Amino acid sequence: MSTTAAEPAAPYYLPFGNEVQIFEQCHAQKLAVMLKGPTGCGKTRFVESMAFRLGRPLITISCHDDLTASDLIGRYLIRHDGTAWQDGPLTRAVREGAICYLDEVVEARQDTVVVLHSLTDHRRSLPIDKTGENLAAPAGFQLVISYNPGYQRMLKDLKPSTRQRFVALTLDFLPAEQELQVVQHESGLGRASAHALVALAGRIRALRDRGLAEVPSTRLLVATAQLVASGIAPRDACYVGLVAPLTDDAALLAVMLDLSNATFV
Ligand SMILES: Nc1ncnc2c1ncn2[C@@H]1O[C@H](COP(=O)(O)OP(=O)(O)O)[C@@H](O)[C@H]1O
Ligand SMILES: [Mg+2]
Repeated sequence: MSTTAAEPAAPYYLPFGNEVQIFEQCHAQKLAVMLKGPTGCGKTRFVESMAFRLGRPLITISCHDDLTASDLIGRYLIRHDGTAWQDGPLTRAVREGAICYLDEVVEARQDTVVVLHSLTDHRRSLPIDKTGENLAAPAGFQLVISYNPGYQRMLKDLKPSTRQRFVALTLDFLPAEQELQVVQHESGLGRASAHALVALAGRIRALRDRGLAEVPSTRLLVATAQLVASGIAPRDACYVGLVAPLTDDAALLAVMLDLSNATFV
């Protein structure tokens, strides 16, 4: 019988700049962090890799319109034998000294986001009104939020009073040579094919100026590379993986299809 459990592998993350060092210092200085960057550029992977590096548990909360303060903090559940308090994920993160990652935080309502405030200033505590507790955050606790500043939002944005509580790290798609490394690592695809995919993504991203609102992310590139690596013809893989997800506009689809066909002749 084997006696040693396999160590979990470190999540693979290729840095964009000096975000790893800055994040480490933020953790040490008990500063909350905001990650800004387009969808699929590596924000979640970055947080996963930092939690691993720092040896902290990671608790992720996907934010949405209906998320309430109680969803974050907790609530009394009615059971057959009475009522029992159940911690929400934010409370659990404070108790465990975890990294608490609120993904797409602008999707949450302002009155929900406000419950984060006491954790991001000198108080570093979470008052739980319903139980009368006031939890002090241990040293390992850190709040991380992410959002995509590119989206056009009418009323949705972070309040200045919320923004100014975070150190902002700006991520973006990696330069072509590094994105190629990521695509190869994640898909196992050979260098020549991966190179062609990354080059195609670059040409498609340039269509932003011609009205393409959503450009292909590294995530889409990885998915497409996985399809190619599994044996799907590159042109087909590009259409379903890289082109069709981006828009329903027939003219833009045709332009991207041309680019794809020119890349994979
Ligand atoms: N810098 C990076 N290092 C390693 N993998 C990356 C990187 N950027 C993107 N990826 C790949 O792209 C995928 C999507 O990244 P993710 O972190 O989920 O994006 P986001 O959270 O910004 O939407 C990841 O699963 C990973 O395969
Ligand atoms: Mg994410």
